[in-house]
Amino acid sequence: MRLPERVTLCEVGTRDGFQIEPEFIPTEQKIEVVDLLTDAGLPRIEVTSFVSPKAVPQLRDAEAVMAGIRRRPGTRYAALVPNDKGASRAVDAGVTVIHTVLSASESHNLANVNMSIAESLVKLRATMEVAHRAHVAVYSGISCSFGCPFETDVPVARLEDVVKALVDMGARGIGLADTTGMANPVQVGRVLDHLVPHFPGIEWTLHTHDTRAMAIPNILAAMERGVTCFDASIGGLGGCPFAPGASGNVCSEDLIHCLHAMGVETGVDLDALIETSKRVQAIVGRGLPGQLVKAGKWDRRYPLPDGVRERIPARA
Ligand code: COA
Ligand code: ZN
Repeated sequence: MRLPERVTLCEVGTRDGFQIEPEFIPTEQKIEVVDLLTDAGLPRIEVTSFVSPKAVPQLRDAEAVMAGIRRRPGTRYAALVPNDKGASRAVDAGVTVIHTVLSASESHNLANVNMSIAESLVKLRATMEVAHRAHVAVYSGISCSFGCPFETDVPVARLEDVVKALVDMGARGIGLADTTGMANPVQVGRVLDHLVPHFPGIEWTLHTHDTRAMAIPNILAAMERGVTCFDASIGGLGGCPFAPGASGNVCSEDLIHCLHAMGVETGVDLDALIETSKRVQAIVGRGLPGQLVKAGKWDRRYPLPDGVRERIPARA
């Protein structure tokens, strides 16, 4: 397996996760979680989204969250926006970078942002103008890059058209999102082999959901293709309110544990992250999908059962 020495993770739990929680997470608890993620060394955090409060009431406190967080120099504090109104709010709130949202599937784009892809692209051009005037870089996510819950297949040619439109407008990076966990590792490899050579200089991120337990295999496939940026969610929170069947993102601490066990660096303090995950479970009031919090790290050692130690044969 060809693995990079280091990968860069973007924590999306407070956005992708908190947007779909049935109970509104109080603003001060959102701020507390972002601060814990900062302290654990996450280099990038997608803090919240500046979308219509009618569409996503759970994140209606985006300004207050951005104003309340503690910022570590060097950490990137991003927010998701669907249009220029969101971009202006995000810039005023002092985001480091803007993440835009658009789907490669017409039906999901209409369900998610009430626009056709062409209409969204017009809004995203205006979004980029707002961002560029404020000297804020834009990274563009593409939902349903590997399949759509309404249309099933999303042809790679359609995905490529959307990538091209966003790159031509000035997107610094592209995030390929597997919104409902439909991708498999062979497909991820095929799509990246097709797209990456056409867009030199673009930073690629893979945004996975573990709906069908394929998130980490998909990340491994992307790493083999040279991708080194990945989104992940504390505890495995996450899901799109406008994509039926969407469940949590790849769990941050599970992914980081896997990477560290293989010798791939992330710069994240895994023990601090495990404690953060436990705190998030307390905040949302239930257990989360992440495995590591339950199992402990790979080198966890259990006490021997009575009478076993004396019977272990001595090695020469
Ligand atoms: N932030 C706050 N309010 C916004 C906004 C934004 N970024 N964009 C639009 N609005 C407001 C408008 O001002 C208008 O307000 P009013 O009713 O008080 O006049 C209202 O929302 C409707 O605006 P319109 O442009 O007609 O949008 P819409 O109703 O067609 O909704 C989106 C379009 C994109 C704003 C909405 O679908 C949305 O926010 N979607 C986000 C979906 C999401 O976050 N999905 C999960 C992440 S993938
Ligand atoms: Zn997502």
